Amino acid sequence: MIFKNKVFIIIGSEGQIGKVFKQHILYNGGKVCSVDILRTEKKSNKNEFYIKTNITNLKNIKKILDKTKKLYKKIDCVINCSYPKLNQSKNLNSINFKKVTRNISDHLGSNIVLCKITADFFKKQGHGNIILFSSIQGVMPPKFEHYENTNMYSPIEYTANKHAIVGIVKYYAKLYGKFNININSISPGGIKNNQNKNFLKKYKSSCLQKGMLDAKDLISTMEYLSDDRSNVVNGQNLIVDDGWTL
Ligand SMILES: NC(=O)c1ccc[n+]([C@@H]2O[C@H](COP(=O)([O-])OP(=O)(O)OC[C@H]3O[C@@H](n4cnc5c(N)ncnc54)[C@H](O)[C@@H]3O)[C@@H](O)[C@H]2O)c1
Repeated sequence: MIFKNKVFIIIGSEGQIGKVFKQHILYNGGKVCSVDILRTEKKSNKNEFYIKTNITNLKNIKKILDKTKKLYKKIDCVINCSYPKLNQSKNLNSINFKKVTRNISDHLGSNIVLCKITADFFKKQGHGNIILFSSIQGVMPPKFEHYENTNMYSPIEYTANKHAIVGIVKYYAKLYGKFNININSISPGGIKNNQNKNFLKKYKSSCLQKGMLDAKDLISTMEYLSDDRSNVVNGQNLIVDDGWTL
């Protein structure tokens, strides 16, 4: 029961990665506040409760922390797996100023405010971990050739957002690290989700063994970053990508 008596907040809990993390933490004895903009069919129970809310609003972030603290008395780790997809550009020729700025302010604004408010909370509490999500595209641009002859596309704002997450983590780790607070990010490779076969094949050719990942491939990294083994790992971006970035 590695998560016994541990309290997590998982934002984006109904997405591919959030869902797998949440199930793993609950299975291993932890308690989870699940946060997502989507309505969930499941009901809250003594180890998990749901908050349907939009993370891009400052007041909502405060409410999530207050509610979790009230219910479970403490918070050990906050993981942000959310990504606002609504305003992304659809292709290279459809860059729209309003959409780009909205997408960037939604993702970066919410991560910055989340870090600041949560780190202030953890400072009073005396400890805590924050894990944000960057991406392989937070350290490299897309391999555009992989997208040829598919209807898939990776927009500039995704690369910009994910590079910036790496900076946000360093900034806040340096400010708050001395208060027993660890702030790191995970940069996964692509997660399998019924992608186009040609794309999968080309993608795999840039990797070492597996190619695209399963969300469960990230569990051990999350475990490590959320417990004492990583106490001296702070402000880092852990790349988990089967060698895509090499
Ligand atoms: N899936 C991948 O291939 C991949 C690869 C690298 C990095 N990432 C990053 O990892 C993180 C998790 O990815 P995922 O695949 O689980 O994403 P996902 O799209 O499957 O899930 C994201 C969840 O966040 C929720 N969400 C979106 N906007 C929200 C908001 N404003 N407030 C609250 N919840 C909101 C969505 O409803 C969704 O359930 C993301 O930051 C993503 O960019 C994903």
